[in-house]
Amino acid sequence: MKIAVLPGDGIGPEIVAQAVKVLDALNLNLEMTEAPIGGAGYEASGDPLPADTLQLAKEADAVLLGAVGDWKYDTLERHLRPERGLLRIRKELNLFANLRPALLYPELADASTLKAEVVSGLDIMIVRELTGDIYFGQPRGISTLPNGEREGVNTMRYAESEIRRIGRVAFDIAMKRNKKVCSVDKANVLECTELWRQVMIDLSAEYPEVELSHMYVDNAAMQLIRAPKQFDVMVTGNIFGDILSDEASMLTGSIGMLPSASLDANNKGMYEPSHGSAPDLAGKNIANPLATILSAAMMMRYTFNDELHALKIENAVKKALAQGYRTADIVTAGCKKVSCSDMGNAVLAALN
Ligand code: IPM
Ligand code: MG
Repeated sequence: MKIAVLPGDGIGPEIVAQAVKVLDALNLNLEMTEAPIGGAGYEASGDPLPADTLQLAKEADAVLLGAVGDWKYDTLERHLRPERGLLRIRKELNLFANLRPALLYPELADASTLKAEVVSGLDIMIVRELTGDIYFGQPRGISTLPNGEREGVNTMRYAESEIRRIGRVAFDIAMKRNKKVCSVDKANVLECTELWRQVMIDLSAEYPEVELSHMYVDNAAMQLIRAPKQFDVMVTGNIFGDILSDEASMLTGSIGMLPSASLDANNKGMYEPSHGSAPDLAGKNIANPLATILSAAMMMRYTFNDELHALKIENAVKKALAQGYRTADIVTAGCKKVSCSDMGNAVLAALN
């Protein structure tokens, strides 16, 4: 099994090193090869997604990614910026299904900014479409109008087939969970998402056991804070999913806890924490590696179909938390505050 390891920028290398350590300890003969992406790709070869990196990712069975981005690249031309490398690799590998599970570990109920009773028992799967929507829609750009002022344009668009295939992913996942799908849109204003809603309704006829509901995105943002446990599976487009998944992550105590899987139609996948590169924390060995380690568990589950090792990693994370180990972002009174690498070591020790 070949894994392309793309640490990226900021805290990327530090957190990925911990996940690699954990994967190595499984003794599964995984062939892991590293390559640069994002700002690191730009530094190495003037391209946030170097051709060699893309080739490696295409040939691999799965990709493990850290994070991309740093303020120092914000002034580059748009196509050279780190984020563009990430968007391109998602598109090139056709990773249209982004799974972001927001799961509260009981030990972290006090780390959330919400009351423990609101979040305890939380287990939401956010299914975010990842290769369409306003992120990729044409036309786009900044141009100058005849009157001399500038205009910025992006286009929200979804073809029916794109909506249907992500809907299917959500319904299939719901069948293995509590059989509830909440589709999030803005159908009262945006035609693109009016179509989204129609397609979801059509599709639901194939899943009579699944209860489909619809929610406008503004209400969904509010309900996530008010009563998050009402949700089982949420399915939504690229931009709404980007925003709602950051929001949902805070229910779990810290964005440092939220893993993700981005899958193509054959379950080839890229696995990355849902958080960013946090340049302010980089190089200090204080970031939380658990989202990345939990992403490695998702890799075992979804690409390698290896539930046993997925659970093994997840249980090791639970054990490290139960033993009181906490990185700075999730530390509460009475716990042991540890560094990024020591959290990795705690998971490693719990694994054996
Ligand atoms: C994410 C990130 C990315 C996105 C950025 C870095 C391009 O926020 O994975 O959620 O918007 O998809
Ligand atoms: Mg995001």
